[in-house]
Amino acid sequence: MTASDSPARQRPTTSLAQTPQAPGALPVLGHGLLIARRPLDFISSLPAHGDLVRIKLGPRPAYVVTSPELTHRVLVTDARAFERGWLFDKAARFLGSGLGTASGADHRRQRRLVQPSFHRDRLPAYATVMRDQVQALAARWQSGETVDMGQAMDRMSMSVATHALFSPVLGARVGEVLRRVLPVLTDGVIRRTSLPDWWAALPTPGNRRFERAVTELRDAVDESIAAYRRSGVDHGDVMSMLLAGRDEDGSGLTDSEIYDQVVTLISAAVETVGAALAWAFFEIAASEQVQRRLHAELDQVPSGKPPQYTDLPRLDYTRRIVNEALRLSAAWLFMRRTIRTVRLGDVDLPPGTEVVYSPYLLHHDPRWYPDPDRFDPDRWAPGTVIHPGAFVPYAAGPHQCMGNAFAQIEMTTAIAVICGTWHLRVPAGARARAVARIDVHPDRAPVIVERRRT
Ligand code: HEM
Repeated sequence: MTASDSPARQRPTTSLAQTPQAPGALPVLGHGLLIARRPLDFISSLPAHGDLVRIKLGPRPAYVVTSPELTHRVLVTDARAFERGWLFDKAARFLGSGLGTASGADHRRQRRLVQPSFHRDRLPAYATVMRDQVQALAARWQSGETVDMGQAMDRMSMSVATHALFSPVLGARVGEVLRRVLPVLTDGVIRRTSLPDWWAALPTPGNRRFERAVTELRDAVDESIAAYRRSGVDHGDVMSMLLAGRDEDGSGLTDSEIYDQVVTLISAAVETVGAALAWAFFEIAASEQVQRRLHAELDQVPSGKPPQYTDLPRLDYTRRIVNEALRLSAAWLFMRRTIRTVRLGDVDLPPGTEVVYSPYLLHHDPRWYPDPDRFDPDRWAPGTVIHPGAFVPYAAGPHQCMGNAFAQIEMTTAIAVICGTWHLRVPAGARARAVARIDVHPDRAPVIVERRRT
């Protein structure tokens, strides 16, 4: 019997070959050109063809789950029948084999060792780091200036991630190196996952820059690990927890595994939060009504002061804005691969089948979100029912985002700190267009900041 299939649920089998294919595939390139040109339009067009739709990534077929039910089966119910898949195999060559790319028993072991870094008890200290970093960023703004919120929020999330990961003394050099090389590394990994392998071996200036960035970061992290091991003290940061983690047999993460986790955590924590906050601030600035309601909440709850960790659960309207920003910014394409036969709908997928899931696709399906391109925080008003499987910004199941609570606190804090002090306005005629990287970013998010109070 196939994974997650009871006799009562068995239906006649449709063969893999009969699964509907998205139109527009070209010989050899498959849907590659369509995906390269208009990835978001392409992925959002797929539910019209069925709950399971074949696409061609070059000559390679992959099967996209387009319904909340099948997505839940892949991520949660039948999770053990899947490994990470082709996209992650490619990414692992450059990101290493940390938590973000591992599968199966290796993934479970790493998750056990890294999880304590994100335990509830550690969150208040991270929240203080976040508040300080957001305040430091906004303190540099002049009233009336135009801030590019895309760049500003990437910078802010990078400072938060490096300060939460490393103590100021032992991790100072890593923080400095990361700020310089992360854009090169992120672009390099995205390019390497979308271009053929031989391209990465060419001695182009871009490839050489990427190799230099990897070497420089590895040296800085190795140096920092050695300093932490010598100090032997808990600095209240993620690095201390990674070094302290022990398996049942008493073994911990090796230096090389710690390097992989650092790169994984930084890559997972910067652009994701940056994209969601760029949308949030642009949309707040674009709607005087949203902004008035937000100010009313912020003026009341933390009494106009920078928010404390304990204030955050009371910021209900801010939470709605965060959810709506996550809906717009969540990743457009992630993959899994079957390791045994799995029935999805009425199709048996044999071992080795590549499967795609897309938070963006579900978040833009008008069946679950009417008028999906409209920014409407009240979709998340208490009492409103959203299809339970149709909101998956952090995925679900064994690979659910480990930083989800961290990210929620960071985004809520950033909005509360900035909008507590600043009024935001969009320059005349400015529009933001969605651009797919891994997450979905606004192509530009210019916002005029005007001081409300000191
Ligand atoms: C808006 C913010 C964020 C979003 C939308 C997000 C989204 C996601 C998603 C969708 C996954 C699952 C990927 C898959 O299916 O394989 C994931 C995994 C992960 N995320 Fe996040 N993430 C965010 C922020 C963060 C932050 C701040 C951290 C750490 C500080 C983090 C750490 C991780 C890690 C370690 C994993 C791998 C988990 C595992 O496979 O066990 N993320 N994230």
